[in-house]
Amino acid sequence: MASTNNLKFYIFLAFVAIILANVLKSGLFPINNDIKRTLGYPENSLLNFTELSGRYGYLSEEHTLVTEDGYILTIFRINGKQCAGKLKKPPVVLMHGLLLSSDLWLDAGPDAGLAYLISDACYDLWVGNQRGNYYSRRHVRLNPDKDEEFWQFSADEIGLYDIPATIDYVLNTTGEEKLNYIGYSQGAGTFLIMCSERPGYCDKVNILIALAPATRLTNTKSVLAQSILGGAQQLEGLLAAIGIYEALPKGALNQELLAFVCKFSATSEFICGNLIATLDSSHPGSISKETIKISFGHSPAGTSVRTLARYGQALSSDKFQKYDYGKPRNLDIYGEEKPPSYNLSTVTIPFVTLYGKNDNLVATEDVLWLIKELPNVLEAVEVADPMWNHFDVPYSQFSKDLIFPKVNEYLQKYSIY
Ligand SMILES: *[C@@H]1O[C@H](CO)[C@@H](O)[C@H](O)[C@H]1NC(C)=O
Ligand SMILES: *[C@@H]1O[C@H](CO)[C@@H](O)[C@H](O)[C@H]1NC(C)=O
Ligand SMILES: *[C@@H]1O[C@H](CO)[C@@H](O)[C@H](O)[C@H]1NC(C)=O
Repeated sequence: MASTNNLKFYIFLAFVAIILANVLKSGLFPINNDIKRTLGYPENSLLNFTELSGRYGYLSEEHTLVTEDGYILTIFRINGKQCAGKLKKPPVVLMHGLLLSSDLWLDAGPDAGLAYLISDACYDLWVGNQRGNYYSRRHVRLNPDKDEEFWQFSADEIGLYDIPATIDYVLNTTGEEKLNYIGYSQGAGTFLIMCSERPGYCDKVNILIALAPATRLTNTKSVLAQSILGGAQQLEGLLAAIGIYEALPKGALNQELLAFVCKFSATSEFICGNLIATLDSSHPGSISKETIKISFGHSPAGTSVRTLARYGQALSSDKFQKYDYGKPRNLDIYGEEKPPSYNLSTVTIPFVTLYGKNDNLVATEDVLWLIKELPNVLEAVEVADPMWNHFDVPYSQFSKDLIFPKVNEYLQKYSIY
């Protein structure tokens, strides 16, 4: 135990350093993409969603939408290469997880990235972004660099506002009445929050395909994740006192350093591959070197300290519950001393999930708990590879065989040709 505690302490210090580095962001590191190109960064790590997918011949559109509480979110629509005039209905939304962005679904390349695979099967695919990441760091009234109010959110608000606004925007733009939704990790957990709080929105969706859904985190095994999330929970007040509300944005010192170190072939596998393995679990050979190098150009993508803190709270609770403000504010906000739980027994949407046995972030025990809570589970699939972990879902070169076929099976069932 002593060594675990020591490790936690050092990681805790590292976390403080990382957060402090955010204060120094941009001004200190004026590295633009042209300089990065001459330094040998892989081109794909420097490109945004439309540029990167365009490089492989895919057409995508960039759209912006505004949530009820004023956040401006970017969403991309991507069309398969052979799909002109034969797009299936209804539209499909694909949503990323914590500290990530839409670009996640391209990082593994056209043979493995889910945005490519799903759009090539001619679904009308919309790839969303949640508030606080580099595509959704905007607001109609608030300035994320000046107004702390911008960062007063966690997965609770993402579920309450971002997911509904995304659904409305896609339905409105396509003229459809319903859509199909695929959520990864927080992208699935926030969907369930929406269903619990705003059931009318859940009715606008035929099926939720949940990839490693993050709800309660009672059995999360990763010591590094425990340290980062637990650290954020313990430090939230202190960080707020010194004006830090944003966690791990793109362009901050830590992200630039990671991207720098991870671009070299020699270091990318050793340091960056190990970082992924330490944060999650080891699965040798699953994520290619090239994907590792590219992914650190797009992540961490930024969120609020509160979002991390709320997951820190979830580590020591056996419920899927709202952010805990502490007794007095809980009473003001929730009318109860303790944060209320989401009522999953009311969430009747058809539900399919895929999860990995070796996932140290979203543990199998917690997925099995979720399945017991939900009343309409069509199928729960443990991925056939026993080494399958959390980051394999977006990044593994084997997603085409181990994730996509099941996703496609259910999309087909709920689509019209
Ligand atoms: C992506 O890159 C294109 C081309 O450089 C640019 O026009 C567009 O504004 C960028 N989109 C975002 C969201 O950064
Ligand atoms: C839906 O589209 C109509 C017409 O384009 C627009 O007036 C309305 O604001 C849109 N609603 C949402 C929620 O996007
Ligand atoms: C959850 O919802 C169900 C169905 O509406 C209801 O019977 C149950 O009492 C609710 N549970 C809680 C804890 O609110």
